[in-house]
Amino acid sequence: MPKSIAPFPMTRLRRTRKMGALRDLVRENELSVNDLIWPVFIREGHDDETPIPSMPGVSRLTIDRLVAKAAEAYALGIPAICLFPYTSQEARTLDCAQAWSADNLSNTAIRAIKDRVPELAIMTDVALDPYNINGHDGFVVDGEIMNDETIEALVKMTLAQAEAGADIIGPSDMMDGRVGAMRRALEADGHRNVSIMSYSAKYASGFYGPFRDAVGASGALVGDKKTYQMDPGNADEALRLVERDLSEGADMVMVKPGMPYLDICRRVKDAFGAPTFAYQVSGEYAMISGAANNGWIDGEKVMMESLLAFKRAGCNGVLTYFAPAAAKLLNE
Ligand code: PBG
Repeated sequence: MPKSIAPFPMTRLRRTRKMGALRDLVRENELSVNDLIWPVFIREGHDDETPIPSMPGVSRLTIDRLVAKAAEAYALGIPAICLFPYTSQEARTLDCAQAWSADNLSNTAIRAIKDRVPELAIMTDVALDPYNINGHDGFVVDGEIMNDETIEALVKMTLAQAEAGADIIGPSDMMDGRVGAMRRALEADGHRNVSIMSYSAKYASGFYGPFRDAVGASGALVGDKKTYQMDPGNADEALRLVERDLSEGADMVMVKPGMPYLDICRRVKDAFGAPTFAYQVSGEYAMISGAANNGWIDGEKVMMESLLAFKRAGCNGVLTYFAPAAAKLLNE
């Protein structure tokens, strides 16, 4: 026990837990709607949606439905949404050209949302996987995921997203040197105030399974992503990646997945004090929703507890599929 604590019974730590009012007074961390970024899936079509079986309660939305949901999210006080396209088979090619097309699904959605809810911040995903025939985040040549060649494509993708009106660019590809290249291109192209939230410490994780179903990449992915995403055994390496990305011009950094990597969130926040985010990924969402739907846990309670954990670990906010549900509870 630290010396500042008087011995029992002068100190009884239960005193401040006696009643709700005291627990409210001494609580160290709190979740607010301002902490939430809502990841959403977009599909082609009109006035329709497709439920994702491995993510109960989550659907791929056509752009018109997405715009309506974005307006609802903004009304709930959610500051930002993050767009992920479910691309058609024809959009997936070896050269990934759709990734930087001005009228691809994601860029069309950005314009539609900005038209209706301009004050809602829009985050995008920069990686080639939705447009790549083999499901990888970079170009593949003879089985190798090419770093430098991929960066050129990521820069074009970034500029197309900024042009469409994206507020926060989210490179999730884990190529080396991409943040600097993207930042230089944004500056040169007149997009000085577009933020970059780098997926700096992104692990090669089994927790992305349901997401790959959601974007239709599960069947497509050839091999795994271990030559670019991080080894789950590493922690110091996460700090080096974050430092590198900050030095290249990232405004915010992210740790992904979330709950299994709270130690990394804390270390990143302590080491750099930069705006730090976690991504509570699809597999985390699926575990909580699946158990709740079976009646094995109290879904709302576990959802809120899981989100509060990110605040306790030092995060400024969290990307979570629970965002609307959590916002509704917080607003009650
Ligand atoms: C792809 C990307 C992935 C996620 C976000 N962007 C999957 C992957 O790297 O294979 C995962 C999100 C989630 O699981 O919720 N660049």
